[in-house]
Amino acid sequence: MTTEASRGHFSSRIGFIMAAAGSAVGLGNVWGFPTKVAENGGAAFILMYLAMVFVLAFPMLVAELTIGRYGQGNPVTSLRRVWRNNRFAPIVFGALALLAASLILSFYSIVAGWLVAFAAEPLATAVGADGLAAWLTEFSQPRNVIMTLLFSLMTIWVVSKGVADGIEKWSTRLMPILFVLFAGMIIYILMQEGAMDGLRVYLVPDFSHLNGRLIVDAMGQAFFSLSLGVGSMMVYGSYLKKDINLPKVATQVAIIDTSVAFAAGLLIIPAMFVAKHNGVEIFNAAGELISSGDLVFQVLPSMFHTMGSSGPVIAVVFFVLMVIAALTSSISILEVPVACAQDELGMSRQASSWLIGLLIAVASVVICLNFGALFGLVIDISTVYMQPLLGIIWAVVVGWVWHRNELLKELQQGNPEIADGWFWKIWPWYVRFICPVAIVAVMFVSIS
Ligand code: TRP
Repeated sequence: MTTEASRGHFSSRIGFIMAAAGSAVGLGNVWGFPTKVAENGGAAFILMYLAMVFVLAFPMLVAELTIGRYGQGNPVTSLRRVWRNNRFAPIVFGALALLAASLILSFYSIVAGWLVAFAAEPLATAVGADGLAAWLTEFSQPRNVIMTLLFSLMTIWVVSKGVADGIEKWSTRLMPILFVLFAGMIIYILMQEGAMDGLRVYLVPDFSHLNGRLIVDAMGQAFFSLSLGVGSMMVYGSYLKKDINLPKVATQVAIIDTSVAFAAGLLIIPAMFVAKHNGVEIFNAAGELISSGDLVFQVLPSMFHTMGSSGPVIAVVFFVLMVIAALTSSISILEVPVACAQDELGMSRQASSWLIGLLIAVASVVICLNFGALFGLVIDISTVYMQPLLGIIWAVVVGWVWHRNELLKELQQGNPEIADGWFWKIWPWYVRFICPVAIVAVMFVSIS
């Protein structure tokens, strides 16, 4: 087992925030969130989502980071340190987290592969390779498999490089560029004809859409977007120095993540209506917004086409940055089983990155080859059910298993006054009672 001294650490607080925000900001924000907003009729979903982030996901984010920093490791190792008198629970629940992480990465790489394809398409068009350009943007098994494998290799490569060198460097440099580009694109789209209709759908809530499915979708989306449940944040927490104020960095990460999701919706939903104005079909026969998984991939290219000669350039920059955003997330997922193999089995980072990364890539290929049957199913199992269930487990660990004094001691290291503040008065009690009950209640609502 590695000791604390020999583990990699983030070299700065800002480096950690960028890396954790890099984990949180990804396809969940730019693909998942706008798709779910469209599916659930707009602003009502956003309100429910905001409630879920701050009422449920944020306290769980603090919980996961705290367990990770205290336990100094992957879910199995960390649980073992916290749950000392139980030999089986850490292995069973830790393994469940690893399984969920692997399932999530297997579908994540497929969607990210589409981004790679869309980043390459304008280049293919520019050099006159029209056949290739069409192949890249049309849904097909060979394209899905090849692009998925390409993206999986990128993930494995970065993870095999380690913490400060790979993960931190990439996240810190590239995240800010993404924010600026987003701002520019939002301004552009809001100036187009039709955008205001989209803005209305996005911002004016229609509560007739409120139903069980919307509520459970909002919770799942909040857990997914903050990378909760499977141990991503736990492992990142374990690379965090002891003098960092955990509730504070968690707040910053949650705010960054939510802002990016909101910005992505502010871009995509109006862009749908601009596309409609330009003759693209965005409503189905029943008058509902078309919201299949490739919504984003239809709407954005049609926006770039309206941009004249700068369109292809902006398209390339945008999709490349999206691939990078996806990469800073996917590495935080692969990092979970890799850290576990290192800590528990004593494998080298190199070997475990390649072995586990390739196994998950095989799973991705299996999903590609049985897309209709497996893609949605794997997403549902891992994000709608496993993530919240694992959330309950972490809440129980922090609220019931872990001794309150030790919990306080861990949090005090980066925040000596915490015992006197409101956070400590509310949070432990909150994670103990409210979080598990609320998660169970939401899941119950979705089933009934
Ligand atoms: N949160 C990331 C996104 O929004 C994806 C992600 C990274 C994730 N690590 C995770 C999702 C762990 C669930 C669990 O794209």
